Parts: sequence; C-alpha cells; structure tokens
Amino acid sequence: MKKIGIFTSGGDAPGMNACLRAVVRSAQFHKIKVVGIKRGYEGMIDGDLIPLNDRSVSGIIHRGGTILGSARSKRFRTEEGMKQAYKNLKAKKIDGVVAIGGDGTFRGATEFSNKFNIPFIGIPGTIDNDMYGTDYTIGYDTALNTIVEAIDKIRDTASAHDRLFFVEVMGRDAGFLALLSGLASGAEGIMVPELQSDVKGLVKNLKKAQKKGKNSSIVVVAEGDDEGGAMELAEKVKVGLGDSFEIKVSILGHLQRGGNPSCFDRVLASRLGFAAVEALKSGKSNEMVGLVNQKVKHTPFNKAVKNTNKLNKELVEMAQVLAFCDNENN
Ligand code: F6P
Repeated sequence: MKKIGIFTSGGDAPGMNACLRAVVRSAQFHKIKVVGIKRGYEGMIDGDLIPLNDRSVSGIIHRGGTILGSARSKRFRTEEGMKQAYKNLKAKKIDGVVAIGGDGTFRGATEFSNKFNIPFIGIPGTIDNDMYGTDYTIGYDTALNTIVEAIDKIRDTASAHDRLFFVEVMGRDAGFLALLSGLASGAEGIMVPELQSDVKGLVKNLKKAQKKGKNSSIVVVAEGDDEGGAMELAEKVKVGLGDSFEIKVSILGHLQRGGNPSCFDRVLASRLGFAAVEALKSGKSNEMVGLVNQKVKHTPFNKAVKNTNKLNKELVEMAQVLAFCDNENN
C-alpha cells in the first residue's frame, strides 16, 4: 500500500473532518501517501483529487461539515460513471480507498471494489446511527446534543405559553435521534419508525397529564415515523385533543447536521480513522471499521448494509414511565 484515496460521502456529519485528519496522519506515519477525493463519488468521476498531508488537515479536528465536500452521486450508480472513477484512481496510482459515509456509500463501494479489484475500507459517518457493525456512527453524538439543546429552548417557550409542541428530528428510517433526544429532554411523547405509533394512546396520556397540572408538553417525532412527520401527527392529535392545548410544530431540519463535533465524536472519528489505515495496510478489503463495546470491530460491507442497528425499545417504555409515572393498575 503506497497511496490511498479518501472521500466523504452522503449526508455530512460532525466528526468527518476529525476522521479525515486521523486517516491522513496515520497514513503519513506509515509513509503512505494520501489523495483527497472531493465531493464523494462525484469527485472520483470528475477526477477532482487533491494531495493531502499532515499540514492540509491541521486545524480541522473541531470543525463540522467536511473540507472534502460531500454528495449523493447518481452517476456512480452507472457503469460509465464507475469506469471513469476507476480510470481516475488508476491514473493517480491509488491502491486503496477509505470511504467515510453511510450505507449508500458502502453499497457503492462494494459494487465498485468487486468490479475493479481496489480495496475499500469504510468508516460509518452519519448522524442517523443506523449502521450495523458499530454502536455509534460519527456525528450521532453531536447531533443528539444539538437536538437536546434545541428542545430545551423549545421547552422554555412551551411552558411560558402553556403549549404542546411537536418537534421533528432527522434520522431517515431510524428512530435513534428521536428516542435518545426525547429521553434526554424529558419529552412527553416519542414517536419512532421502529414502533407502531399509537395516536390514541398519546392523546390519552396528554389529557391525563393536563388533568394532573402539566400545562405544556413536548412530543419528539422522528421524520420517518409511520404516522407521518410532526405536521401530520400534530393534525391527528389536534382532532383528539380539541382546543385543550394550543399546538405548535417545530421542524429542526439541517441545523442538526452542523456544528463542532463533540468530544465523543472526535475521539470516535480518530480511533476509526486510525483503524481504517491499519486495516488497509494489513490487506483487508470491503470491510467497515466500527466500535462495538468500546473495541474496534471489522464488519464486511455486505453484512453492514444488509442489517440494521436495533433500537432499544425498552427505552421508549422507560421514557413514558419517567414522563407520566402513570400505572393503569394503581
Ligand atoms: O442521513 C443523514 C440525513 O441527515 C438524514 O437524517 C436525512 O433524512 C437526510 O440525511 C437528509 O438528506 P439531505 O441533506 O440530502 O436532504
């Protein structure tokens, strides 16, 4: 392994820069050259490649986003796009690639690497935490903290005006961000795609809580919830609640993806970046490096993309107990 390429792809996540820094510096330590591929697979196709060294990644460990840029590439799904990408990698004599991204990124990498015989090592970078083979994805912890800070602020105004707020958070088809942020912010309702939503039950709980003197409430809704996003859910709940609560909706949107990475994400990103270079050096290919029970673990791409990380559903029940302390039997 003499020269490796590195790119960030899919939705950016805080900590991607810290990871890039770790890869570049670990490689340099082993006298392996590094080429940065701009805008993910798009830059690979366009030949948008830049040499990187320890100096080019200085001062970025604390910065959100990704200095390489990111994209979701449609062209890379075509035969032509892949061929062009291969040509560009070969022209630069790149003999291994590190991909930082989510499952879409690893799907592309698997197909490409099987066709053209270039080893790829993946590092999970997405705020959604939906990757199998790691307890945490890079960016998830920061996004969680951003969401909790936002909900705390919403809580202030909700209680000042006796309002019921529906707060929609990202996560695509996964409810990790909704569950953990809801738990940490003491939400009265948490709606996640992994569990069938019970609108009637939610209305009942909110009514009971109001009777007990709770004048404001927060319901955290995952964007992928089966009842729809926060807007749809608010409409449905309004039908059941009538005028007893003034309802407001807040969709947090892309602010959840930005900001300086948390300490946790910087350490995770550094460990996985370091591990990815070790993996390429030892001849591994088509594997994702993740952190399981605090240890670096390697998972083949096809296993990582076929499976999903399971949500701890017991935490949803626990959040309900803590929000309402309501036991039908007493
Ligand atoms: O995968 C990260 C993520 O932020 C998801 O939570 C969200 O559904 C999606 O990306 C949004 O993608 P885009 O920025 O392309 O709209």
